[in-house]
Amino acid sequence: MTTLEMPTNFPELLFSAWNARQTLLQHLHEGDTDCYRLFHGTVEGVPGMTIDRYGDALLVQTFHASLPPSALLVLESFYRQCEGMPAEVYYNDRSLPGSRYTNALPAEMASTAKTARIIHELGIKFTSRIRHRGQDPLLFLDLRACRRFMYSICQNKTVLNLFAYTCGIGVGAASRGAAFVTNVDFAQSSLDYGRQSAALNGLGDQQIEFIEDDFFAVTRQFAGLPVGGRMHPGERKRGAGSVPAGVLKRAPRQFDIVFLDPPRWAKSKFGTVDLIRDYASVFKPALLAVADGGQLICTNNVASVDAAEWIDLLQRSAKKAGRPVKAVDTMVPDADFPSFDGSPPLKIAVLTL
Ligand SMILES: C[S@@+](CC[C@H](N)C(=O)[O-])C[C@H]1O[C@@H](n2cnc3c(N)ncnc32)[C@H](O)[C@@H]1O
Repeated sequence: MTTLEMPTNFPELLFSAWNARQTLLQHLHEGDTDCYRLFHGTVEGVPGMTIDRYGDALLVQTFHASLPPSALLVLESFYRQCEGMPAEVYYNDRSLPGSRYTNALPAEMASTAKTARIIHELGIKFTSRIRHRGQDPLLFLDLRACRRFMYSICQNKTVLNLFAYTCGIGVGAASRGAAFVTNVDFAQSSLDYGRQSAALNGLGDQQIEFIEDDFFAVTRQFAGLPVGGRMHPGERKRGAGSVPAGVLKRAPRQFDIVFLDPPRWAKSKFGTVDLIRDYASVFKPALLAVADGGQLICTNNVASVDAAEWIDLLQRSAKKAGRPVKAVDTMVPDADFPSFDGSPPLKIAVLTL
């Protein structure tokens, strides 16, 4: 076990991060938001350590080394003095390769860490857990800027949420007046959390659906593209509308708004998601599933990918696919995710088609 070397001015760093957020926090609280980042790793002076608020709990996480117990005491005492901050402080040590939450919690917190809690963002309720089978508390806080933007454009629009995970943006859009929201992810457990959040906001089948299936199998059909996968003996080259045996057939379908937030890398029997070498393979089906005049919001969270080069690639791919982009806007995460030079690892582009 490696122990994180804490800077001697750790309390001052906590204070600077707290101070830098005062305007944002006031804004977020006024807008019914109680989940946000309070300390953002290297950028704020402690590499590999983050502190987040999730409703009535604070969560400290380390990713490369374990937090010394004395540092936990320092930060507990710091946030106790900050007005309105929760008293419960959990620590998840995620520093050992391939393992999650290697550290034990005090007995009374070990069970509450696994309990479902309700958190609020921009007036929408989400289910969250400090510890569960996955690795984060079920809502990616750095996507708040995307969700806010989505809520500003989704009234009476159809929305497709790809790689939906726990359906944060989908639940939010449906709650904020979207005509209908379709969430796609192949992980049933993640979609189940989405269903729970949908129920918390009083949403029903008329407003939101959850498709548990592969991105390539679903989106390529929506886009009118053939679905890949292993060919069967005697099978000829597949054209649009043909699908491999065992794949549910779906009609082409377009949406007013598509949200594409893929993981860095993932392989399935229908294709590979690879945000460094092949963004186009996820981009093209998503693009063709956007209705004329609609919008595609897409992300790339790989730090080494240059924002300008990525945008250029999106524009070239769109042109090649016969759907040239009419306008491109970019967005950055809110100020609770500061970056060194204004170039955060998470890049967000809004394409108007
Ligand atoms: C980083 S999360 C996406 C976060 C999400 N967009 C949000 O707003 O919170 C990646 C998700 O992609 C899903 N996934 C990865 N490969 C997939 C595939 N081929 N088909 C469907 N879902 C996939 C995983 O199950 C996971 O939920």
